[in-house]
Amino acid sequence: MLITDLQPPHYDDAVQLWEAAGLTRPWNDPEADLLRAVQSPSSTVLGGLIDDELACTAMVGHDGHRGWVYYLAVAEDRRGEGLGGLMMDACEQWLRRQGAVKVQLMIRETNTEVLNFYERLGYERSDVEVRAKWLTTDA
Ligand SMILES: CC(C)(COP(=O)(O)OP(=O)(O)OC[C@H]1O[C@@H](n2cnc3c(N)ncnc32)[C@H](O)[C@@H]1OP(=O)(O)O)[C@@H](O)C(=O)NCCC(=O)NCCS
Repeated sequence: MLITDLQPPHYDDAVQLWEAAGLTRPWNDPEADLLRAVQSPSSTVLGGLIDDELACTAMVGHDGHRGWVYYLAVAEDRRGEGLGGLMMDACEQWLRRQGAVKVQLMIRETNTEVLNFYERLGYERSDVEVRAKWLTTDA
């Protein structure tokens, strides 16, 4: 598998992969998220290609100190072959090259299936509560 910065011909494939993997939500626009990530110097979207077909993808970015991984998805018929682990590895390497010293990610409370996957890769539970506020409405 070749892991590289995602190129425009595979943008739609990445969005489809995220949708098929259940990572998108009606209130988020994955295509806009993707474009923002690839246009910023502090983030990117990586794609794992097998015979020029997108097998897995992840978004990665940093704030200088902490790195974040989002939208990790492996095509359903490619799961369990180690691709998710390779993609997380590539995200960590990308962050190291950028000078980030820590990597974090958010897991939806309902996505209990992946807890074991991250645990095996050395990701420990953090004792923090994530809070969020929309900036796009006046509410
Ligand atoms: C989570 C996901 C990326 C894992 O990808 P994958 O390619 O199947 O994972 P790997 O084959 O690299 O597995 C790595 C290890 O985690 C384990 N693992 C993977 N998925 C697992 C699961 N659902 N439950 C338990 N263990 C799991 C594997 O057994 C493997 O362990 P091993 O190396 O000792 O054999 C993939 O299942 C996926 O795309 N899920 C849907 C999207 C998603 O939820 N993304 C995460 C958002 S936070």
